Amino acid sequence: MMVKLIYNLGGGLPDPMVFPRSFSSPIIPFERTLSFQDLDEELIRLLKYRGIDASKDEILITTGSIQGIFIFSNTLLNDGDKVALEYPTFAGAIRVFKSRNVIPVKLPVIPYYDINIKDKIKAVYTIPTGQNPTGIHMKLEDKKRILEMAEERDFFILEDDAYGLLTPEEPTIKSLDKNGRVIYITTLSKVFSSGLRLGIMVAKPSLIEKFRDMKEEIDGGNSSISLSLLYGSLKDGSFWEGISRAKRIYEEKKVIMEEALKKYLPEAEWTRPEGGLFFFIRVKGIDSDQLQEKLARKVLISPGTKFFFDGNGKEYLRLSFSYSTPNDIEKGIEIISQEIYEMKKNSKV
Ligand SMILES: Cc1ncc(COP(=O)(O)O)c(C=O)c1O
Repeated sequence: MMVKLIYNLGGGLPDPMVFPRSFSSPIIPFERTLSFQDLDEELIRLLKYRGIDASKDEILITTGSIQGIFIFSNTLLNDGDKVALEYPTFAGAIRVFKSRNVIPVKLPVIPYYDINIKDKIKAVYTIPTGQNPTGIHMKLEDKKRILEMAEERDFFILEDDAYGLLTPEEPTIKSLDKNGRVIYITTLSKVFSSGLRLGIMVAKPSLIEKFRDMKEEIDGGNSSISLSLLYGSLKDGSFWEGISRAKRIYEEKKVIMEEALKKYLPEAEWTRPEGGLFFFIRVKGIDSDQLQEKLARKVLISPGTKFFFDGNGKEYLRLSFSYSTPNDIEKGIEIISQEIYEMKKNSKV
């Protein structure tokens, strides 16, 4: 029997209302996969929105941020290199870095960034705008400082701007970078389409050349159907309408989730997200892996342990406000609070 999963507060799936309502017909010739002049120009414009002045030879289209992380780590890292990872960070990045056999070093972000990295690192991977899972922004002075540190101590900064288009007033580290220290990646999964698998990578031309070779080895380039749809939507403006809708919808849902958390889980602690799509909450004494099991088929959540590279984080859970309707957000949190109450009651017996 199929049991319906009712409330989805788990993954970071976008609200389907955000995506363009209709697509222009494909324009890019089907034989083009790695670049197309007119699309490049649209992407250059898109990057300017994030304060980045990039030329055509500094841009590579990927199938998403995860591919960007994969390309970066398989081109520039060696086994045993130390890489600073936000603690906690995006679970997909932890998987890629682990598979690359790097040694992770902590870059604490709770309650805010502490960028005093002491180890000799090869790179830092950061999501400085609307950080996943916490939703905080790195302060401008820390962005400047980490860039200075990268220059002084010769390491790369891999900046993942997955949520940047939702809070465009926050400057990217890449926009401050004069010497090509920063490799910038972003995804269009959150604002355009998750299924078309599109992302952008920006770096100095000598690196982009290496990344392009790696991309050709992996998949030979993106689907021209995805590229055509992106181009059409940038050209006719529906891409930008989607971004405006996204900002409005997510701001409303964020308030709804916060109210529901205050109402049903008054004992929970969190830092209010400044961007992104999530609340990362701590409920003392709980085991969020167990909670996830108990909630199975009722409410989807992301247990905190997914986001700490050493498996810590049992008392944390990440709740997404992007996908579910306002009613479902509220109902989902009510069910979570009941389950937590039951678990605490039973553990006292
Ligand atoms: C920080 C971050 N990077 C990348 C991704 C995934 O991006 P993509 O779907 O483009 O691989 C996500 C979302 O799931 C994310 O939170």
